[in-house]
Amino acid sequence: MATQNEIERTYDYMDDIFRVSLGDHADITGAMYNGDFSLTLDQAQQKKHDFILDSIKLKPGSKIMDIGCGWGPVLYEAAKHGGKGIGFTLSPAQARACKADGLNVLVKDWKDVDPKDVGKVDGVVSVGAFEHFCSIDEYKAGKQEEIYRDFFKLCSDSLDKGGKLYLQTMLWGKSVPNVNDIDVNAKKLSDSWILGHIEKFYPGSWLPSNIGQIEKCAKPYFKLVSENNGRLDYIQTMKEWGRAWKKPSLRKFIFMVKLAPRYARDKDFRYQITSLRYGCNRLCFEREIMTHQRMVFEKVK
Ligand SMILES: C[S@@+](CC[C@H](N)C(=O)[O-])C[C@H]1O[C@@H](n2cnc3c(N)ncnc32)[C@H](O)[C@@H]1O
Repeated sequence: MATQNEIERTYDYMDDIFRVSLGDHADITGAMYNGDFSLTLDQAQQKKHDFILDSIKLKPGSKIMDIGCGWGPVLYEAAKHGGKGIGFTLSPAQARACKADGLNVLVKDWKDVDPKDVGKVDGVVSVGAFEHFCSIDEYKAGKQEEIYRDFFKLCSDSLDKGGKLYLQTMLWGKSVPNVNDIDVNAKKLSDSWILGHIEKFYPGSWLPSNIGQIEKCAKPYFKLVSENNGRLDYIQTMKEWGRAWKKPSLRKFIFMVKLAPRYARDKDFRYQITSLRYGCNRLCFEREIMTHQRMVFEKVK
């Protein structure tokens, strides 16, 4: 599991740049174009929100739990439809931003969430957070599926029978990489080099092997009712992010200047910037080293 410190390394320094480029409730996960790339990024993110809220059958008054809520895009959308919710993140910057906008968001690891404290909810969502739930070390120690089962148990304990869980995550693509092949010093732009930079970008994170593995871990509590692949949509999302980040703004310029000392002293940070510069995550999707799934589960008992 990525620690709070590792999540802060990934997200907190990006707080300004994400929010200046993408808005206050920035979605930092793949949008839903369903292959229609004439849509704008905002339209495709809206389509995703509609799909999520429809999947969990949100109604006015519904209560949802968002595990890994980021800057609160789904909680915010749920509130616009009369829903209410609680969100968990490991990023203090995200929680501060959400609270400032009246969202109920806590800096808390889902592993420490007691379902009794949350109470029953009508739907659970987790969008682009599952990627962080198992670290490379936990994967090597054979703990991956135990972690995923614990996650599904928390979701199950929070729902009544028939309740829905929307889960969106990156997964390994054609095959699970060999951890020994991940090397930030490998030949530039080779798969090993790209994965080496991805490891620096998302420290403490390892992806699920495939959809079958996720379904198996969910099985004691949930049945998979629908799934669709969002790999190509994610590539388009990342192209749009690249365009948004490149748009000049004074706030962005000040932010870059503030980051300069960190860039000079912190090697891992330089790797993260390189990862962004070369679009390592997008290359992983293009080369099918990674893929991306949207899944809707229903609680069976
Ligand atoms: C890529 S962001 C996705 C944010 C948001 N769901 C979205 O779609 O924009 C991943 C989120 O997962 C959160 N996260 C990762 N591991 C977590 C954990 N163990 N417990 C709670 N949140 C976690 C991070 O803090 C971050 O908010």
